[in-house]
Amino acid sequence: MDRRYLVSVADLNAKEIFSLILRAKELKDNKSETLLTKKTLALLFEKPSLRTKVSFDVAMYQLGGHTIYLSDNEVGLGKREPVSDIAAVLSRYVDIIAARTFLHSTIQLLAQYSTVPVINALSDMEHPCQALSDLFTIYEKKGNFKGLTLAYVGDGNNVSHSILLASAIVGMNICLASPAEYMVNKSILEVARKYAKISGASILLTEEAGSAVKGADIVYTDVWTSMGQEAETEKRRYDFKAFQLNKLLLDKASKEAIIMHPLPAHYGDEVEAGILDSDQSVIYDQAENRLHMQKAVILFLLGK
Ligand code: NVA
Repeated sequence: MDRRYLVSVADLNAKEIFSLILRAKELKDNKSETLLTKKTLALLFEKPSLRTKVSFDVAMYQLGGHTIYLSDNEVGLGKREPVSDIAAVLSRYVDIIAARTFLHSTIQLLAQYSTVPVINALSDMEHPCQALSDLFTIYEKKGNFKGLTLAYVGDGNNVSHSILLASAIVGMNICLASPAEYMVNKSILEVARKYAKISGASILLTEEAGSAVKGADIVYTDVWTSMGQEAETEKRRYDFKAFQLNKLLLDKASKEAIIMHPLPAHYGDEVEAGILDSDQSVIYDQAENRLHMQKAVILFLLGK
């Protein structure tokens, strides 16, 4: 096993993703595996976090290892010290690194200069741990991916990029509805299209939320304003007005559709109050599954 990092969902092939899902399920059913005694994970965070920080920390603890949390104030990625030195030094102390960065290039640099595995715990371009956990949640709820359609409504952001790649790799159809100015990144789309050709998934981009959601089996949304974009909040609120996940929009989806959101949610913006409290919502399963999937990812990257 020579794979050293998970920077993008596209670092994994379909076979690896399916085995991560099965491993996550095993770990969820049997919480007592202690395969990481004396192993240390460094958590390097430039942005705030609830789910990612806690789930990585608990994952390491339950697997017999432990975590060191390093906030940006302490480390100053690329500011107090070059990213390449931080990666090289941390590699002498810890067994694995998970980092949440503003720039995707920072996580790429960490992966390049580290000699231990590096996990992308969210960058401006991707959120692979979220997408893999979401596939696990969809697998639990629906039992398969082929023949299903996921509708993503909202900003063409990190979360949408990773779920787009993940869907394309495992063969799940995906429709993305965003305002023209906020469509997914073109190079991510190109990679996803290559995977979709192999898996048979269809990828559809539209500016109309209703046509994306029509008949969908999974309806997914994320915040309009991601961490670091706070200055654009009002403009985005205006631009995304027609992309709110509300009752009217949801009525167009399949009756058995599940509703997904990575959280935190901005209620009243991307999602109408009450929608995420309904029986169709699986948001807390998504959050819980971060724990099980990240355990599977850590074990995979450490060759366990
Ligand atoms: N798109 C959001 C996801 C948070 C989990 C952000 O980057 O802030």
